[in-house]
Amino acid sequence: MESFTLHLLTKIIFGRGAEERVGEEVKKYSEKVLLHYGGGSIKKSGLYDRVVKSLREAGVEFVELGGVVPNPRLGLVRKGIDICRKGGIDFILAVGGGSVIDSAKAIASGVMYDGDVWDFFEKRGTVNVEKALPIGTILTISAAGSEMSPNMVITNEENGRKLSAGKHDSTRPVFSMLNPELTMTLPKFQIACGAVDMFAHIVERYFTNTENVSVTDEMCEGIFRAIIKNAIKAVTDPKDYEAMADLMWAGTIAHNGILGTGREEDWSSHYIEHELSAIYDIAHGAGLAAIVPAWMKYVYKQDVKRFAQYARNVFHIIEQDVEKAANRGIEETEKFFKSLGLETTLEGLKIGDEDFKKMSQLAVKSNTIGNFVKLKSEDIEKIYRLALK
Ligand code: NZQ
Ligand code: ZN
Repeated sequence: MESFTLHLLTKIIFGRGAEERVGEEVKKYSEKVLLHYGGGSIKKSGLYDRVVKSLREAGVEFVELGGVVPNPRLGLVRKGIDICRKGGIDFILAVGGGSVIDSAKAIASGVMYDGDVWDFFEKRGTVNVEKALPIGTILTISAAGSEMSPNMVITNEENGRKLSAGKHDSTRPVFSMLNPELTMTLPKFQIACGAVDMFAHIVERYFTNTENVSVTDEMCEGIFRAIIKNAIKAVTDPKDYEAMADLMWAGTIAHNGILGTGREEDWSSHYIEHELSAIYDIAHGAGLAAIVPAWMKYVYKQDVKRFAQYARNVFHIIEQDVEKAANRGIEETEKFFKSLGLETTLEGLKIGDEDFKKMSQLAVKSNTIGNFVKLKSEDIEKIYRLALK
């Protein structure tokens, strides 16, 4: 196991009615906030009215900025930065999913930076986030894990790039309110995409070359199993509170950092997928449902035993032959994604091979991506091809 530092500073307020306390919680940090949200689901569900009531009762002044779209755009982030600076706003309340929360993080860090906020994404590693306004969240979809992670992913609509940044404690939300009932209005497609995304967040950590990591191995395998069980229940009946609750907590734990402690993480599937959602504007989880199985097929020989362990401990595969077991695990992964109603090929997502070369070159950040197997652009192109049909 590798040495690590873990500081999970987000206060989690979980359960029915959690959001009713938002005014009181925000007041601990600020009296003037930016209320940031998406395309209208929170108005339709009545959540917006409850949030506004709670803020008013607590005497918190707010300025609104709605309109965040999935694969959140840089233009709105810049607008948010401007509003905060001009209005003397010192706290961002994000009400929504990963897209709204990521947009909030970009605004929060952009306000505190003299240059252009896109520098954090384009010049990542050279220009890093060092401070940000505090952020609070009310989560409405179990998926990205942004409610407890420091990461943010933004799309620059001017050049079509979708890039991630973060990794600094200041962009971890100071609190996140997780009421599973809020996720019951989600379309089944979004529940499924969310489940695949959180599953992929564990894949990125589980497949490692670090040895002697049995504590986090067991934790990963347990959360994998919980996601499979509860995602199937959740898409069958989104009103199943217990399934939605388990899924919500799984999504947060999958990406808050704890499952990656002491081990080297991979992240190539994410980089490969981000190029798809940048060009085709598909849901991140929908892209991952095609990329993750293809990535597995391409890299499993790196550690067949680990893949066999995954098959046995996650999908209960009884198979003595290590190679066969490993392959069964990959098949079961694909079957699980399909059982949620998702396509597991790029053709199924109506994506052809015309951009493979370009996306493969863009996905390679420096020389290679990934750690389990270091991938060059020609490897990435092969993975897109494996995902095609
Ligand atoms: O905009 P509204 O109207 O709210 O509709 C949203 C959106 O259309 C809808 N929705 C959300 N909650 C709802 C609801 N509809 C009905 N009822 C509800 N309760 O769902 C749609 C998708 O929302 P979005 O926020 O885009 O989903 P998600 O949480 O999956 O976020 C995806 C974004 O997060 C990034 C992805 O790349 C993508 O841009 N990621 C962020 C990460 C992070 N910050 O740590 C890590 C992830 O790997 C991921 O890359
Ligand atoms: Zn993800």
